[in-house]
Amino acid sequence: IKLITTHQLQAMKERGEKISMLTAYDFSMATILDGAGVDVLLVGDSASNVMAGHTTTLPITLDQMIYHASSVVRGVKRALVVVDLPFGSYQGNSSEALRSAIRIMKESGAHAIKLEGGSEIKDSVIRILSAGVPVMGHLGLTPQSIYKFGTYTVRAREEQEAKKLLEDALLLEELGCFALVLEKIPSELARRVAEGLRIPVIGIGAGPAVDGQVLVSHDLLGITKEFKPRFLRRYADLHEVMTNAVSNYIADVKSRDFPSAEEAY
Ligand code: KIV
Ligand code: NA
Repeated sequence: IKLITTHQLQAMKERGEKISMLTAYDFSMATILDGAGVDVLLVGDSASNVMAGHTTTLPITLDQMIYHASSVVRGVKRALVVVDLPFGSYQGNSSEALRSAIRIMKESGAHAIKLEGGSEIKDSVIRILSAGVPVMGHLGLTPQSIYKFGTYTVRAREEQEAKKLLEDALLLEELGCFALVLEKIPSELARRVAEGLRIPVIGIGAGPAVDGQVLVSHDLLGITKEFKPRFLRRYADLHEVMTNAVSNYIADVKSRDFPSAEEAY
């Protein structure tokens, strides 16, 4: 199997093949998702929610992201591994942004980084790209600025915010980003961005007219139960499967059914 590169993602857009992307935070999950053939694995800062139980992505640290990323890289044979720069590791200081990106690349073995925002983080994007580190952009709902917006509702419904998003998308492409994530924006706006850019645009809650889709794996697998946005399609109910398995184990321990003679030395 061939390793996926940023250039192959570009070629996929050009030939109209949709890109599949999912989150992973650990070795076991990365092995399964990569084995299934997913194109891009995102070590998202959503690990702050999904792995650590925080209500936002803000608390996760660069060291913790590197731990998750290095675990994922060890499980991957084919997928491109992209790692989120966490909140506080790149905003407002391009030399700190470069330092953070280099630490991720060096210490985890990942292939690219992602950061949230447009013109505000221009200098950081330029500096990271100049070191030869591929950068993925992220516009629309940007969870690291949740306290600025106050809600997780759909973004860029209004003219002015839509206009800024379009400008930011063009800027990120011009700077040299290899792809762009659009989160929770109207389908029509996402379509305009995907048609206007040469680089692949990957959506989450951004409708069908983009170049690929990303979901949080724990959501699509039904491990997380409470999170039910309209854009989420559940492909399994692992919450139920796992609960049943564990209940059966507990019952077998209590009833002395487990372990049997064959399961003992
Ligand atoms: O952290 C994350 O999971 C993400 C995706 C939702 C794009 O940034
Ligand atoms: Na993220």
